Amino acid sequence: MNFFKDINSFQPIEFTSQWKAPSNIAFVKYWGKLENQIPANPSLSMTLRECHTITKTNFSPSDRLNVELFLDGKENKSFSRKVLTYLEILIPILPFLSKLNLKIETQNTFPHGTGIASSASGMAALALTLTDYLYHLASVSRSEQFFKDASYLARLGSGSACRSIYGGFATWGGHISNEYASPLAVHDNFLSLHDSILVINSEEKKVSSRSGHGLMKEHFFAEHRYAQANYNFDKCCVELKGDRFEEIGHILEAEALALHAMMMTSPSPYMLFHPNTIKAIQVIWQFRQDTQIPVFFTLDAGPNLHLIYPDSHKKNVMTFINSELTHLSEMVIFDRVGDGPSLC
Ligand code: PMV
Repeated sequence: MNFFKDINSFQPIEFTSQWKAPSNIAFVKYWGKLENQIPANPSLSMTLRECHTITKTNFSPSDRLNVELFLDGKENKSFSRKVLTYLEILIPILPFLSKLNLKIETQNTFPHGTGIASSASGMAALALTLTDYLYHLASVSRSEQFFKDASYLARLGSGSACRSIYGGFATWGGHISNEYASPLAVHDNFLSLHDSILVINSEEKKVSSRSGHGLMKEHFFAEHRYAQANYNFDKCCVELKGDRFEEIGHILEAEALALHAMMMTSPSPYMLFHPNTIKAIQVIWQFRQDTQIPVFFTLDAGPNLHLIYPDSHKKNVMTFINSELTHLSEMVIFDRVGDGPSLC
Protein backbone atom coordinates (compact mmCIF):
# COMPACT_ATOMS: atom_id res chain seq x y z
CA MET A 1 0.00 0.00 0.00
CA ASN A 2 1.36 3.41 -0.98
CA PHE A 3 -0.74 5.99 0.85
CA PHE A 4 0.94 9.17 -0.41
CA LYS A 5 3.78 9.49 -2.98
CA ASP A 6 5.85 11.85 -0.79
CA ILE A 7 5.27 9.90 2.46
CA ASN A 8 9.01 9.39 3.01
CA SER A 9 9.43 13.12 3.50
CA PHE A 10 6.67 13.47 6.14
CA GLN A 11 8.15 14.94 9.32
CA PRO A 12 6.55 14.11 12.68
CA ILE A 13 4.71 17.00 14.31
CA GLU A 14 2.53 17.24 17.41
CA PHE A 15 -1.14 16.32 16.86
CA THR A 16 -4.05 14.88 18.82
CA SER A 17 -7.00 12.93 17.43
CA GLN A 18 -9.95 11.30 19.17
CA TRP A 19 -12.35 8.79 17.58
CA LYS A 20 -15.21 6.66 18.76
CA ALA A 21 -15.51 3.31 16.93
CA PRO A 22 -18.09 0.55 17.36
CA SER A 23 -17.80 -3.19 17.67
CA ASN A 24 -19.45 -5.45 15.08
CA ILE A 25 -21.04 -8.87 14.97
CA ALA A 26 -20.27 -11.08 11.97
CA PHE A 27 -23.22 -12.64 10.13
CA VAL A 28 -20.75 -14.54 7.91
CA LYS A 29 -17.61 -15.37 9.87
CA TYR A 30 -13.97 -14.71 9.06
CA TRP A 31 -12.13 -17.78 10.33
CA GLY A 32 -8.76 -18.65 8.84
CA LYS A 33 -6.23 -16.35 7.26
CA LEU A 34 -3.33 -16.15 4.83
CA GLU A 35 -0.18 -14.02 5.18
CA ASN A 36 -0.61 -10.35 6.15
CA GLN A 37 -4.07 -10.71 7.64
CA ILE A 38 -5.62 -11.59 4.29
CA PRO A 39 -8.80 -13.55 5.08
CA ALA A 40 -9.23 -17.09 3.78
CA ASN A 41 -12.93 -16.34 3.11
CA PRO A 42 -15.16 -13.27 2.78
CA SER A 43 -17.10 -12.03 5.80
CA LEU A 44 -20.04 -9.73 6.46
CA SER A 45 -21.06 -7.97 9.66
CA MET A 46 -23.53 -5.67 11.32
CA THR A 47 -22.02 -2.70 13.10
CA LEU A 48 -23.20 -2.18 16.68
CA ARG A 49 -24.34 1.04 18.35
CA GLU A 50 -23.78 0.69 22.10
CA CYS A 51 -20.60 -1.40 22.27
CA HIS A 52 -17.79 0.91 21.26
CA THR A 53 -14.32 2.22 22.12
CA ILE A 54 -13.25 5.85 22.45
CA THR A 55 -9.56 6.44 21.79
CA LYS A 56 -7.56 9.65 22.03
CA THR A 57 -4.05 9.53 20.58
CA ASN A 58 -1.47 12.25 21.09
CA PHE A 59 1.37 12.06 18.56
CA SER A 60 4.60 13.88 19.42
CA PRO A 61 8.07 13.86 17.84
CA SER A 62 10.57 11.53 19.51
CA ASP A 63 13.92 9.92 18.69
CA ARG A 64 12.27 6.49 18.38
CA LEU A 65 8.84 4.84 18.26
CA ASN A 66 7.37 4.69 21.74
CA VAL A 67 3.87 3.90 23.07
CA GLU A 68 2.23 4.75 26.38
CA LEU A 69 -1.29 3.32 26.60
CA PHE A 70 -3.85 4.14 29.29
CA LEU A 71 -6.99 2.02 29.57
CA ASP A 72 -9.64 3.78 31.66
CA GLY A 73 -7.01 6.16 33.00
CA LYS A 74 -4.59 3.39 34.11
CA GLU A 75 -1.35 2.66 32.27
CA ASN A 76 -1.53 -0.79 30.65
CA LYS A 77 1.92 -2.11 29.75
CA SER A 78 0.63 -5.27 28.11
CA PHE A 79 -1.60 -3.33 25.66
CA SER A 80 1.26 -0.81 25.10
CA ARG A 81 3.48 -3.68 23.95
CA LYS A 82 0.77 -5.06 21.65
CA VAL A 83 0.24 -1.65 20.05
CA LEU A 84 4.00 -1.16 19.72
CA THR A 85 4.28 -4.48 17.85
CA TYR A 86 1.41 -3.42 15.58
CA LEU A 87 2.99 -0.02 14.84
CA GLU A 88 6.38 -1.61 14.14
CA ILE A 89 4.70 -3.67 11.41
CA LEU A 90 3.38 -0.42 9.91
CA ILE A 91 6.77 1.39 9.76
CA PRO A 92 7.55 0.23 6.17
CA ILE A 93 4.31 1.87 4.95
CA LEU A 94 4.24 4.76 7.46
CA PRO A 95 7.96 5.55 7.93
CA PHE A 96 7.32 8.64 10.10
CA LEU A 97 6.12 6.30 12.88
CA SER A 98 9.73 5.47 13.74
CA LYS A 99 10.15 8.97 15.20
CA LEU A 100 7.00 9.29 17.27
CA ASN A 101 5.79 8.99 20.80
CA LEU A 102 2.13 7.95 21.00
CA LYS A 103 0.19 8.59 24.16
CA ILE A 104 -3.03 6.60 23.78
CA GLU A 105 -5.97 7.02 26.15
CA THR A 106 -8.71 4.51 25.54
CA GLN A 107 -11.96 3.37 27.10
CA ASN A 108 -14.70 0.90 26.18
CA THR A 109 -18.33 1.74 26.74
CA PHE A 110 -19.33 -1.87 27.21
CA PRO A 111 -18.97 -3.12 30.75
CA HIS A 112 -15.68 -4.69 31.80
CA GLY A 113 -15.35 -8.42 32.01
CA THR A 114 -18.22 -9.12 29.66
CA GLY A 115 -16.15 -11.39 27.47
CA ILE A 116 -17.15 -9.17 24.55
CA ALA A 117 -14.05 -8.77 22.40
CA SER A 118 -12.91 -5.17 22.25
CA SER A 119 -10.29 -5.83 19.57
CA ALA A 120 -12.59 -4.80 16.68
CA SER A 121 -13.70 -1.49 18.18
CA GLY A 122 -10.31 -0.88 19.82
CA MET A 123 -8.24 -1.40 16.67
CA ALA A 124 -10.75 0.53 14.55
CA ALA A 125 -10.61 3.55 16.89
CA LEU A 126 -6.80 3.46 17.01
CA ALA A 127 -6.50 3.10 13.22
CA LEU A 128 -8.84 6.07 12.75
CA THR A 129 -6.65 8.30 14.95
CA LEU A 130 -3.60 7.09 13.01
CA THR A 131 -5.24 7.79 9.65
CA ASP A 132 -6.27 11.21 10.93
CA TYR A 133 -2.62 11.91 11.74
CA LEU A 134 -1.51 10.63 8.33
CA TYR A 135 -3.99 12.91 6.55
CA HIS A 136 -2.95 15.83 8.77
CA LEU A 137 0.71 15.35 7.78
CA ALA A 138 -0.32 15.11 4.13
CA SER A 139 -2.59 18.20 4.46
CA VAL A 140 -5.40 16.24 2.83
CA SER A 141 -9.00 16.42 4.02
CA ARG A 142 -11.04 13.36 4.94
CA SER A 143 -12.82 11.66 2.05
CA GLU A 144 -14.11 8.20 1.13
CA GLN A 145 -10.49 7.19 0.67
CA PHE A 146 -9.79 8.17 4.31
CA PHE A 147 -12.10 5.39 5.53
CA LYS A 148 -10.60 2.84 3.11
CA ASP A 149 -7.16 3.71 4.44
CA ALA A 150 -8.38 3.48 8.05
CA SER A 151 -9.97 0.11 7.31
CA TYR A 152 -6.72 -1.10 5.72
CA LEU A 153 -4.72 -0.06 8.81
CA ALA A 154 -7.31 -1.51 11.20
CA ARG A 155 -7.17 -4.87 9.37
CA LEU A 156 -3.44 -5.14 10.02
CA GLY A 157 -4.18 -4.86 13.77
CA SER A 158 -7.21 -7.18 13.96
CA GLY A 159 -8.95 -8.59 10.90
CA SER A 160 -12.54 -8.03 12.00
CA ALA A 161 -11.71 -4.43 13.02
CA CYS A 162 -11.60 -3.41 9.35
CA ARG A 163 -15.41 -3.83 9.17
CA SER A 164 -16.00 -1.53 12.19
CA ILE A 165 -15.00 1.49 10.08
CA TYR A 166 -18.47 1.52 8.49
CA GLY A 167 -21.92 1.92 9.97
CA GLY A 168 -24.84 -0.36 9.06
CA PHE A 169 -23.40 -3.43 7.36
CA ALA A 170 -19.92 -4.06 5.99
CA THR A 171 -18.25 -6.73 3.92
CA TRP A 172 -14.60 -7.72 3.76
CA GLY A 173 -13.25 -9.89 0.95
CA GLY A 174 -15.49 -11.31 -1.76
CA HIS A 175 -16.31 -9.00 -4.66
CA ILE A 176 -14.42 -5.92 -3.47
CA SER A 177 -11.16 -6.27 -1.53
CA ASN A 178 -9.34 -8.51 0.90
CA GLU A 179 -7.31 -5.55 2.11
CA TYR A 180 -10.08 -3.35 3.50
CA ALA A 181 -13.79 -3.53 4.22
CA SER A 182 -16.58 -1.82 2.30
CA PRO A 183 -20.03 -0.60 3.33
CA LEU A 184 -22.93 -2.76 2.14
CA ALA A 185 -26.24 -1.14 1.20
CA VAL A 186 -29.16 -3.15 2.63
CA HIS A 187 -32.95 -3.05 2.74
CA ASP A 188 -34.23 -0.35 5.15
CA ASN A 189 -35.86 -3.02 7.35
CA PHE A 190 -32.46 -4.29 8.38
CA LEU A 191 -31.24 -0.89 9.58
CA SER A 192 -33.29 -1.31 12.74
CA LEU A 193 -32.22 -4.88 13.62
CA HIS A 194 -31.52 -5.59 17.28
CA ASP A 195 -28.66 -7.53 18.81
CA SER A 196 -29.26 -8.52 22.44
CA ILE A 197 -26.06 -10.01 23.77
CA LEU A 198 -26.42 -12.73 26.40
CA VAL A 199 -23.20 -12.63 28.36
CA ILE A 200 -23.18 -16.28 29.37
CA ASN A 201 -19.65 -16.36 30.68
CA SER A 202 -17.31 -13.40 30.96
CA GLU A 203 -14.07 -15.26 31.70
CA GLU A 204 -11.21 -14.73 29.28
CA LYS A 205 -11.34 -17.51 26.71
CA LYS A 206 -8.75 -20.26 26.92
CA VAL A 207 -7.83 -20.26 23.21
CA SER A 208 -7.31 -16.93 21.42
CA SER A 209 -8.80 -16.13 18.01
CA ARG A 210 -5.25 -15.83 16.69
CA SER A 211 -4.62 -19.52 17.59
CA GLY A 212 -8.03 -20.49 16.18
CA HIS A 213 -7.25 -18.87 12.82
CA GLY A 214 -3.87 -20.65 12.87
CA LEU A 215 -5.48 -24.06 13.39
CA MET A 216 -7.42 -23.63 10.12
CA LYS A 217 -4.13 -24.03 8.21
CA GLU A 218 -4.00 -27.74 9.01
CA HIS A 219 -7.74 -28.28 9.31
CA PHE A 220 -9.15 -31.32 7.57
CA PHE A 221 -12.39 -29.46 6.69
CA ALA A 222 -10.83 -26.07 5.83
CA GLU A 223 -11.63 -26.06 2.11
CA HIS A 224 -15.23 -27.11 2.72
CA ARG A 225 -15.60 -24.43 5.39
CA TYR A 226 -14.30 -21.75 2.99
CA ALA A 227 -16.72 -22.99 0.31
CA GLN A 228 -19.60 -22.78 2.81
CA ALA A 229 -18.56 -19.26 3.89
CA ASN A 230 -18.41 -18.12 0.25
CA TYR A 231 -21.86 -19.57 -0.40
CA ASN A 232 -23.33 -17.97 2.75
CA PHE A 233 -21.64 -14.67 1.96
CA ASP A 234 -23.17 -14.47 -1.52
CA LYS A 235 -26.58 -15.52 -0.22
CA CYS A 236 -26.48 -13.09 2.72
CA CYS A 237 -25.50 -10.17 0.42
CA VAL A 238 -28.52 -10.96 -1.79
CA GLU A 239 -30.95 -11.50 1.11
CA LEU A 240 -29.93 -8.25 2.81
CA LYS A 241 -31.18 -6.38 -0.26
CA GLY A 242 -34.58 -8.05 0.04
CA ASP A 243 -36.66 -8.24 3.18
CA ARG A 244 -36.71 -11.95 4.07
CA PHE A 245 -35.20 -11.81 7.53
CA GLU A 246 -35.74 -15.51 8.15
CA GLU A 247 -33.41 -16.43 5.28
CA ILE A 248 -30.71 -14.34 6.95
CA GLY A 249 -31.53 -15.82 10.35
CA HIS A 250 -30.81 -19.34 9.12
CA ILE A 251 -27.46 -18.21 7.71
CA LEU A 252 -26.63 -16.60 11.07
CA GLU A 253 -27.15 -19.83 12.97
CA ALA A 254 -25.41 -22.01 10.37
CA GLU A 255 -22.38 -19.70 10.47
CA ALA A 256 -22.23 -19.61 14.28
CA LEU A 257 -22.41 -23.39 14.55
CA ALA A 258 -19.92 -23.91 11.71
CA LEU A 259 -17.43 -21.57 13.41
CA HIS A 260 -17.62 -23.55 16.65
CA ALA A 261 -17.61 -26.87 14.79
CA MET A 262 -14.29 -25.80 13.24
CA MET A 263 -12.87 -25.32 16.74
CA MET A 264 -14.18 -28.69 17.97
CA THR A 265 -12.81 -30.57 14.95
CA SER A 266 -9.48 -28.76 14.56
CA PRO A 267 -6.13 -30.60 14.83
CA SER A 268 -6.00 -29.47 18.51
CA PRO A 269 -9.71 -29.62 19.32
CA TYR A 270 -11.22 -27.21 21.80
CA MET A 271 -14.66 -25.98 22.78
CA LEU A 272 -15.68 -22.46 23.77
CA PHE A 273 -19.32 -23.34 24.54
CA HIS A 274 -20.46 -23.09 28.14
CA PRO A 275 -23.25 -25.51 29.19
CA ASN A 276 -25.60 -22.50 29.32
CA THR A 277 -24.74 -21.65 25.68
CA ILE A 278 -26.35 -24.94 24.65
CA LYS A 279 -29.27 -24.55 27.07
CA ALA A 280 -29.97 -21.05 25.72
CA ILE A 281 -29.81 -22.26 22.09
CA GLN A 282 -32.41 -24.92 22.88
CA VAL A 283 -34.65 -22.36 24.60
CA ILE A 284 -34.37 -20.03 21.58
CA TRP A 285 -35.21 -22.82 19.11
CA GLN A 286 -38.19 -23.89 21.19
CA PHE A 287 -39.46 -20.29 21.49
CA ARG A 288 -39.15 -19.80 17.73
CA GLN A 289 -40.99 -23.02 17.03
CA ASP A 290 -43.79 -22.22 19.50
CA THR A 291 -44.32 -18.56 18.58
CA GLN A 292 -43.03 -18.29 14.98
CA ILE A 293 -41.30 -15.08 16.15
CA PRO A 294 -38.14 -14.64 14.05
CA VAL A 295 -35.36 -14.46 16.62
CA PHE A 296 -32.08 -16.08 15.66
CA PHE A 297 -28.74 -16.41 17.42
CA THR A 298 -25.16 -16.04 16.42
CA LEU A 299 -21.89 -16.42 18.31
CA ASP A 300 -18.43 -14.89 18.22
CA ALA A 301 -15.40 -16.93 19.15
CA GLY A 302 -16.76 -17.34 22.68
CA PRO A 303 -19.70 -18.70 24.70
CA ASN A 304 -21.89 -15.57 24.49
CA LEU A 305 -24.99 -15.53 22.34
CA HIS A 306 -26.11 -12.61 20.17
CA LEU A 307 -29.87 -12.63 19.58
CA ILE A 308 -30.71 -10.91 16.31
CA TYR A 309 -34.31 -9.85 15.62
CA PRO A 310 -36.35 -7.21 13.79
CA ASP A 311 -37.57 -4.10 15.57
CA SER A 312 -41.20 -5.15 14.93
CA HIS A 313 -40.73 -8.04 17.45
CA LYS A 314 -38.78 -6.05 20.04
CA LYS A 315 -41.40 -6.16 22.78
CA ASN A 316 -42.04 -9.90 22.59
CA VAL A 317 -38.37 -10.82 22.32
CA MET A 318 -37.42 -8.62 25.26
CA THR A 319 -40.12 -10.24 27.38
CA PHE A 320 -38.83 -13.65 26.26
CA ILE A 321 -35.22 -12.75 27.14
CA ASN A 322 -36.20 -11.40 30.55
CA SER A 323 -38.36 -14.37 31.46
CA GLU A 324 -36.47 -17.30 29.90
CA LEU A 325 -32.86 -16.36 29.28
CA THR A 326 -31.56 -13.99 31.96
CA HIS A 327 -31.08 -16.83 34.47
CA LEU A 328 -28.70 -18.50 32.00
CA SER A 329 -26.53 -15.39 31.61
CA GLU A 330 -24.45 -13.04 33.75
CA MET A 331 -25.94 -10.00 32.03
CA VAL A 332 -27.67 -8.90 28.83
CA ILE A 333 -26.50 -5.98 26.67
CA PHE A 334 -29.27 -4.58 24.48
CA ASP A 335 -27.61 -3.35 21.31
CA ARG A 336 -28.70 -2.68 17.71
CA VAL A 337 -27.41 -1.51 14.35
CA GLY A 338 -25.14 1.53 14.64
CA ASP A 339 -24.09 4.40 12.39
CA GLY A 340 -20.35 3.73 12.50
CA PRO A 341 -17.42 5.67 13.90
CA SER A 342 -17.32 9.37 14.67
CA LEU A 343 -14.72 11.99 15.45
CA CYS A 344 -15.16 13.25 19.00
O1 PMV B 1 -10.53 -10.28 14.02
P1 PMV B 1 -10.13 -11.49 14.78
O2 PMV B 1 -8.77 -11.99 14.42
O3 PMV B 1 -10.32 -11.29 16.27
O4 PMV B 1 -11.12 -12.69 14.37
C1 PMV B 1 -12.49 -12.58 14.53
C2 PMV B 1 -13.17 -13.81 14.23
C3 PMV B 1 -14.66 -13.86 14.53
O5 PMV B 1 -15.04 -12.84 15.43
C4 PMV B 1 -14.97 -15.19 15.17
C5 PMV B 1 -15.49 -13.76 13.26
C6 PMV B 1 -15.59 -12.42 12.61
O6 PMV B 1 -15.66 -12.39 11.39
O7 PMV B 1 -15.67 -11.40 13.32
